[in-house]
Amino acid sequence: MDIKNGFVATVGNTPLIRLNSFSDETGCEILGKAEFLNPGGSVKDRAALYMIQDAEQKGLLQPGGTVVEGTAGNTGIGLAHICNAKGYKCLIVIPETQSPEKIELLRTLGAEVRTVPAVPYKDPNNYVKLSGRIAQEMDNAIWANQFDNLANRNAHYETTGLEIWQQTDGNIDVWVTATGTGGTYAGVALLLKEKNPSIQCVVADPMGSGLYSYVKTGEIQIEGSSMTEGIGNSRITANMEGVPLDDAIQIDDKECVRVIYQLLQQDGLFMGGSVGINVGAAYAMAKKLGPGHTIVTVLCDGGTRYQSKLFNRAWLAAKGLLPD
Ligand SMILES: Cc1ncc(COP(=O)(O)O)c(C=O)c1O
Repeated sequence: MDIKNGFVATVGNTPLIRLNSFSDETGCEILGKAEFLNPGGSVKDRAALYMIQDAEQKGLLQPGGTVVEGTAGNTGIGLAHICNAKGYKCLIVIPETQSPEKIELLRTLGAEVRTVPAVPYKDPNNYVKLSGRIAQEMDNAIWANQFDNLANRNAHYETTGLEIWQQTDGNIDVWVTATGTGGTYAGVALLLKEKNPSIQCVVADPMGSGLYSYVKTGEIQIEGSSMTEGIGNSRITANMEGVPLDDAIQIDDKECVRVIYQLLQQDGLFMGGSVGINVGAAYAMAKKLGPGHTIVTVLCDGGTRYQSKLFNRAWLAAKGLLPD
């Protein structure tokens, strides 16, 4: 019998999907780790589970306690599911610019949700800093602190990275993905480099993020902006410290939207915005390297979370992003 023991045991072990239209066009194997198939619907279920388990193991989270987090949505959604499954309460601080689908889902799941204005990290009222202060002021509560909590990247080192290595029989030329906290990129990069140092680890970055310039020049410089959610950063998080950074690719929103619609219409994959950056970067690497290479990226979450934006023609038109 192959029966999973509840929600928690269902996290991870996702398929690796060949992205046929992009692979056929480039002569490379472009593979997407199907993280949208996690039970909470995104790559962040893994980090949420590891951060809660880590707090339990350290004796920081007691029965009936509260998990507090600042999140662009998916970590909160993962945490809210796991809190329900394990008997904890969940309090989420989220910038009001995030998609209404994610904010509504968090409330439906039973999390207490506080929407706050989107302000830069250096502002004391930034959603991440605010969530840390709220946790500190509460009894029997922990701050998940996904950006600087290494249990996050450890989830991807122990599970996502190892799964990718095994699913490809170690036949990988490039690992490329965008970073929010950096947990996914870092954990997988550390594992793959350890297995085979010749695998290239490449950061995919949206406009409005400082990682691209950091990899290229060692300085964080920010230009432009992006409609993508959950990715991009203006600082090097603890999860991104000391990790392999062989190269970086910047993908703009126009290319992101083109890729999202190609995935939808030619590959049958209905994906969220960060996937457009990831697959756009994998496609750019395939073009750069030429045929015969295997490139792995992440399909972070599904399109239903962005129907009012990315899949809304009026919204796209207002942003000047309607695909051709
Ligand atoms: C949709 C989406 N894509 C990508 C990421 C980035 O993942 P990580 O935080 O592991 O860098 C996130 C993180 O919240 C996300 O929500």
